[in-house]
Amino acid sequence: MTTRARSFDAAAALYQAHRPAYPAALFDAVEELTGRPLAGSRVADIGAGTGIATELLHARGAEVVAVEPGDGMAAEFRRSHPGIPLVRGDGDRLPLAGGAFDLLTYAQAWHWTDPARSVPEARRVLRPGGALAIWWNDLDPAVPWIAEQGGRLRDFFEGDGRLGAGGAGGAGRTGADFRTLPQGLDGFTTRSVPWSRRIRLEDHLANLASHSAFLLLGEAGTREFTDAERERLLALFPDGSVEERYVVGLSVARV
Ligand SMILES: C[S@@+](CC[C@H](N)C(=O)[O-])C[C@H]1O[C@@H](n2cnc3c(N)ncnc32)[C@H](O)[C@@H]1O
Repeated sequence: MTTRARSFDAAAALYQAHRPAYPAALFDAVEELTGRPLAGSRVADIGAGTGIATELLHARGAEVVAVEPGDGMAAEFRRSHPGIPLVRGDGDRLPLAGGAFDLLTYAQAWHWTDPARSVPEARRVLRPGGALAIWWNDLDPAVPWIAEQGGRLRDFFEGDGRLGAGGAGGAGRTGADFRTLPQGLDGFTTRSVPWSRRIRLEDHLANLASHSAFLLLGEAGTREFTDAERERLLALFPDGSVEERYVVGLSVARV
């Protein structure tokens, strides 16, 4: 794992508390595109983190196992979801038996894998006709304040070269400029699933701070950005709450 991929470990509780979940419509779309109900399906959730997606798959009745490489994220997962099985490992070397799964999910995790390894690994552990689903929750850049904030994030990280190549990463970037579909898997079908949540401004800032770009930057640099952002957003939303609007970009391929 890269330093950046490991950055979540020190901030697992912040991640679990402030990262958004996923809407029911996403799981409806997964069922539609795979042609199979989640209930009773054998699912492995790869890069499960603290279990935000795993918990929802479990609630839909999937027989789900989580796979997570990070110490801190795995510990937070076990604390938050003691009833859901987790195995340590990563997408490039799945600690799973061959042909044993109907579905693999990578919720905001595919980009941390090396497709030269993770695609063959996915093929190995899926049964014939099984499917792989990857998705990302992106703040919707069609919303003016979100687009403006995305511009400030890019300026902050890339204008000053704070993080070098890779820049803002998930904080402020969306779909096409950050993620690529796996090479070597044909026939992806895709859906965009819009949804929103209204939260306190402080929780929005904590959500931003849980992205790997800020985790690598450290506390002082993060505070510099979030303090300025608090002032700007309070002028727009004086009641101290914001509506975060998201679009989940989902892609499903069958093997
Ligand atoms: C952005 S978090 C997503 C967590 C969770 N799936 C969610 O939806 O909240 C990315 C996760 O991928 C994990 N990760 C990093 N490198 C990985 C790899 N090569 N294979 C699988 N997971 C990896 C990180 O430890 C982290 O928990």
